[in-house]
Amino acid sequence: TPDYLIAPSILSADFARLGEEVDDVLASGADIVHFDVMDNHYVPNLTIGPMVCEALRRHGVTAPIDAHLMVKPVDRLIGDFIDAGASYVTFHPEASEHIDRSLQLIRDGGCKTGLVFNPATPLTFLDHVMDKVDMILLMSVNPGFGGQSFLPGTLDKLREARRRIDASGRDIRLEIDGGVKVENIAEIARAGADTFVAGSAVFKARNPDDPHRYDSVIERF
Ligand code: DX5
Ligand code: ZN
Repeated sequence: TPDYLIAPSILSADFARLGEEVDDVLASGADIVHFDVMDNHYVPNLTIGPMVCEALRRHGVTAPIDAHLMVKPVDRLIGDFIDAGASYVTFHPEASEHIDRSLQLIRDGGCKTGLVFNPATPLTFLDHVMDKVDMILLMSVNPGFGGQSFLPGTLDKLREARRRIDASGRDIRLEIDGGVKVENIAEIARAGADTFVAGSAVFKARNPDDPHRYDSVIERF
């Protein structure tokens, strides 16, 4: 069995107390911090940037930070996120003029790379860069907002991505993002995902007896 990683998306956290929220999900068993960056251009919403990533590091967060860049153009922000302490920097191929160059920029900065696939973006973008990718992130919703429903067609795409990874023989994580819930995570895992982003499912499941704990949902995952 692969080792499964849970990556809460802080998009659904309480931004007024973000440091505590991140501490709380990590103390409750989360593995990675999923950090959604939206620019009101590539996607129709605006979130947080490298200053907030750096602030989390200064706050003392040592867990991997998975910066999901939904921005266009991407290259300048790649450098900013490297400097801000990101661990993974992932981007959408449609948002980069030169996919190979963007991947190389991330690796040269000492971070792990990832390509992100919207529901209608074909996996063929992987064809010539499989050796430069550390993570494949499949969107199971259209990017821009938390709280949307998992698109079921993503399960076949996960199986196809898993076949590509296995055929490559490389150590590449397969991450899924959008509409992941306790109710569907087992099926998603069976389709081949090993890294699970969950925003609303995690942050809406605060333990009523201890508002600093999210154990129940993270354990059920
Ligand atoms: C959507 C973001 C997701 C989102 C997931 O563009 O990339 O990370 O926050 O949220 P849920 O888990 O609520 O679908
Ligand atoms: Zn995301």
